Amino acid sequence: MGNSLFKKQTIRDIELVGKTVLLRADYNVPLKDGAITNDYRIMQSLPTIQYLLKHNVRLVICSHLGRPKGPHDESVSLKPVAVRLQELLGKQVSFVHGNFTEAAKTVASLAPGQVALLENLRYNPGEEQNDVEFAKQLASLADIFVQDGFGVVHRAHASTEGVTHFLPSVSGLLLEREVDTITSVMSQPKHPLMAIVGGAKIADKIDILHRFIKIADFVAIGGAMANTFLKANGHDVAASLYDKNELSVAKDIMSEAAAEAKKRRFNFYVPQDGVVATKLDKSAPTRIVDWSTHVIAEIENYPKRPSSQASKIAEHEMILDIGPFSGAFIAGAIQLVDTVVWNGTMGVTETEGLQGPVGPFSHGTDLIMEAMLGQFRDSKHKPFSLVGGGDTVGYIEQCGLVEAFGHVSTGGGASLELMAGRKLPGVEALMDKNAKGSESNHER
Ligand code: 3PG
Ligand code: MG
Repeated sequence: MGNSLFKKQTIRDIELVGKTVLLRADYNVPLKDGAITNDYRIMQSLPTIQYLLKHNVRLVICSHLGRPKGPHDESVSLKPVAVRLQELLGKQVSFVHGNFTEAAKTVASLAPGQVALLENLRYNPGEEQNDVEFAKQLASLADIFVQDGFGVVHRAHASTEGVTHFLPSVSGLLLEREVDTITSVMSQPKHPLMAIVGGAKIADKIDILHRFIKIADFVAIGGAMANTFLKANGHDVAASLYDKNELSVAKDIMSEAAAEAKKRRFNFYVPQDGVVATKLDKSAPTRIVDWSTHVIAEIENYPKRPSSQASKIAEHEMILDIGPFSGAFIAGAIQLVDTVVWNGTMGVTETEGLQGPVGPFSHGTDLIMEAMLGQFRDSKHKPFSLVGGGDTVGYIEQCGLVEAFGHVSTGGGASLELMAGRKLPGVEALMDKNAKGSESNHER
């Protein structure tokens, strides 16, 4: 995939010795009852932290967590992150609970190689408002700003954009790798390229669907989003979750895809069968409905004609996963491609199983995962895989499979925006590679 497409300066390009560094991370991690349920973002921030500490900087880390309802919303305190970070680094992390004066005091007391973590930036409304005074305050804590919170660079906030006006600002190693990998997959993918797009809402994925219809060879739809496409195609999806407001968008996307398929070899695939149940529960009885091809229905009833229910979703039933025929079809297509971009699970993977984590609505996702990892039947074919999206990454983490994929992004919205070709304000604001030596790349 050629040379680096990342055009911003990084921590490798700047003199660090003797400096105090303000590092923006994205520690917006999922919490349950005050405990971190997935520390992927923290783990992925370690190489940059270790690099900086090796260069003996005084390190001040900052992040947001969630969307606080007020300045003392304890439910989204970064305290658990400070504890976890301290364990992972094996050194003290001074946690700054309080206000700016306390932050300045703590930072002044740091020796080279020591670390502080500030409390949730969003406790201060100035963060999301990209307030100049708040940005200045943040900047006053350090000599250099390092952006490594890939997950949040699609936001123009005080700690992603504002602060760069007051400090020399460079990228960390995670941000560099994320932007480089995602940009090169989107701009120079090894074809055939397949996009698998799932999850709940079309609204979040419209832009990337348009882009993939232009650049991919195969687009497969799954998750609750597929229900909207099915509904738009005239299928009765009964009690399934779908998006009433997006039916015309779904129709437009399908006609755009159909037009593309006339011009070149291109396939846009909406599931043909699904796993349905009347409730979202691990013990709910499930059934496979084959609304399109009737293949499964025929097999089940062989040698008799399939019953009409076999291809109809009943009144109170919901589609909660793709069916085995659709799963096998997508998995088969994966055998033919060299690159897969995957965002969004095929079904409701949050529902656990009766025994263990694989629930009744995870089989479609599991099947396509196996295919991506070269474990489909006897095929050893393993395309390069780029995975993004919070739920998707959470699930593969839970399965212990993160290492097996090509690149697993720490970004949700940020990775989607980058894939769609949008500029990310938190990246744009960093110093350009060819502007080396300049103190700051722009003034206010
Ligand atoms: C995320 O998890 O999407 C990022 O941390 C950004 O959070 P936000 O969507 O609340 O801005
Ligand atoms: Mg988000």
